[in-house]
Amino acid sequence: MIGIFDSGLGGLTAYRELHTLLPDEHYVYFGDTGRVPYGSRSHEILLKYTRQDINFLISKGADAILAACGTVSSVVLDEVKGEYNVPIIGVVDASSAEALAATKNGIIGVIGTGATVSSGAFEKKLKAGGADEVVSVACPLFVPLVENGYIARDCEVTKLVARDYLEKIKASGADTLILGCTHFPIIADIIADELPNVTLINSGAAAAKAVAKTVSTAGGNKSEFYVSDSPVNFDAVARIFLGGDTVAAKKIDIEKY
Ligand code: DGL
Repeated sequence: MIGIFDSGLGGLTAYRELHTLLPDEHYVYFGDTGRVPYGSRSHEILLKYTRQDINFLISKGADAILAACGTVSSVVLDEVKGEYNVPIIGVVDASSAEALAATKNGIIGVIGTGATVSSGAFEKKLKAGGADEVVSVACPLFVPLVENGYIARDCEVTKLVARDYLEKIKASGADTLILGCTHFPIIADIIADELPNVTLINSGAAAAKAVAKTVSTAGGNKSEFYVSDSPVNFDAVARIFLGGDTVAAKKIDIEKY
């Protein structure tokens, strides 16, 4: 079984890709909706949340885990990974490699949460891989907008926020942009409308491809979804994002793990 976790809906961007690549797998998804957002949390709190999320997925029988959260992947994953006997894959490496392969002018933009941008994790990887310039912008408001369903391409509120956040990326001349928070691909069309000639790299999908290449578990062809607060909103937005598939998430008490 492959376990996937995020602070909320964002990891579904990785789940959707992974499910397409490995449709016969058994997936357990955990969205920590009771404690979203992660992107404004301290290192210490992120360590605690990440360990609890992983412990929960292992308690469900995960043989491999995708940390489908840019914040967790950037800030604490290297520290936590070694504590477990199952492979745990984050979103930084694969999306950085995709961006480096895609850029023609060597200028790469990164958008993510505040914690992700402050960590410099993407920037470090990209510079080590030969990027000439990396322009990073924190876009924290995208997270609650997605969690609250402000995801339609013509949503004026999200469009306005996107215009403001993406101005610096536009001005930099970046030809490639990493959506370094897994919530952001859910509003990829709004971002693309703002940056029409820029190649967007979906960090969750890139990581899912890496998982599909390296992981093979017992399978089982089913998906289970768990959240740490009321599932109502999660189910509704997840359903739109997953193209109409019914999602019936169950609530768990993550503090027990
Ligand atoms: N989707 C997560 C990320 O990729 C977390 C967003 C948040 O909770 O702030 O960073």
